Amino acid sequence: MVVGSGGREHALLEALARSPLQPELFAAPGNPGMARIADTVDIAADDLTGLRDFARDNEIDLTVVGPEHPLIWGITDCFWEEGLKVFGPSRSAARIEGSKVFAKEIMRNAGVPTAPFDAFDMPEPALARIRAMTDTEFPVVVKVDGPVAGKGVTVARNRDEAAGAVREAFSGRFGSSGERVLLEQCLEGREASVFVITDGQDILPFLPAQDYKPAYDAGEGPNTGGMGAYSPIGWMEPQTYAAILEEIVKPTLDQLSLIGARYSGLLYAGVMVTEDGPQALEFNCRFGDPETQALLPRLETDLLEMMIACDEESLGGYEIEWTAEKAVCVVLASEGYPESSSSGDEISGLDDLPMGVYVYHGATRERGDSLETDGGRVLNVVGTGESVIEARARAYAAVEQIHFPGMQYRTDIALEAMELEDF
Ligand code: AMP
Ligand code: GLY
Repeated sequence: MVVGSGGREHALLEALARSPLQPELFAAPGNPGMARIADTVDIAADDLTGLRDFARDNEIDLTVVGPEHPLIWGITDCFWEEGLKVFGPSRSAARIEGSKVFAKEIMRNAGVPTAPFDAFDMPEPALARIRAMTDTEFPVVVKVDGPVAGKGVTVARNRDEAAGAVREAFSGRFGSSGERVLLEQCLEGREASVFVITDGQDILPFLPAQDYKPAYDAGEGPNTGGMGAYSPIGWMEPQTYAAILEEIVKPTLDQLSLIGARYSGLLYAGVMVTEDGPQALEFNCRFGDPETQALLPRLETDLLEMMIACDEESLGGYEIEWTAEKAVCVVLASEGYPESSSSGDEISGLDDLPMGVYVYHGATRERGDSLETDGGRVLNVVGTGESVIEARARAYAAVEQIHFPGMQYRTDIALEAMELEDF
């Protein structure tokens, strides 16, 4: 059973469906795309006990949790208490995403390279700190402590922007996530998303992927949950990747283990590769969205077997195989995203898509025979191909074919990857 209803969960479900173990699949609550290959169960992703009871009563062999909130609230502990298998970290380990201050403390104690920061419980001291900052300390990054789907981060270029972001962070808009606010030094470099599957002892690294967080082309506009992704990332040297695993991922997992926080499942490290080497930006306790959509179509190893091995603490010796293809994912968002979103707009053009294209539903719903939008990130269009040029061309050709009122997307996903490609 896959818990969740977005593009990431749809991609996870498709990858699990390819397993030679031929699983019977459930999705809770799922979406119309997922409903084609799984039985959908009308239980919300944050109804922990409802999900647990369903898994127990229906003898679900394995539950895979997509979104962060159920993990942060302790869905795994809740399943484990009943002897049910679930893919994801314990509640105490999921705090690595649940609180940025907790994550920073883990990193500090583990000696992981990351930007210096200050944390504040009240707006006034944070505003005073901003007033006292010298011009060279800008840009500064303002972050709310708790999880807010990638939207609680502002890279502020000057005092006014920073003060505005601090006031907004404390305004109550982010609920309890905004009770603490961080001011963090801004790092410069190239950003990458690194996923590892771990059973608490061994780690199995995925290939790194590139996410596009700002809403508009050329990195303009507010941060979103992610407007596109591609993999693999040609610009990252193998030694850089090895350094990320050795200096960021492993020490963090060791430190969590040291404090008794059991981590199994997927750990996502957001890193900035700077001139001085890779630095950790953040950790997430689950697969990234939309990076997963650009990774899983290329996965050759059986995801289900890996997840079972993770539960059985027998990951050692596994290796992940990938196809040699490239994959580019373009997110189609509804009008107003990320500040708001529009629902009920009819979606057309999903039939007869070009070869090598996968469409994962993000926020869709059915009305009669038609499909309509149901939130911000509506569809994920993934093109695959032998080169980035081909993968990208296929993705955007499919995008041209798809339509809904107010549809918006970035036109520059994987553009720099294409420019870097060897011919
Ligand atoms: P986070 O949720 O902490 O990953 O922040 C969301 C996005 O904000 C990141 O993916 C980066 O693009 C940006 N960001 C966060 N922290 C920093 C930082 N210290 N320096 C530069 N950019 C950052
Ligand atoms: N794509 C960013 C995230 O999943 O948090």
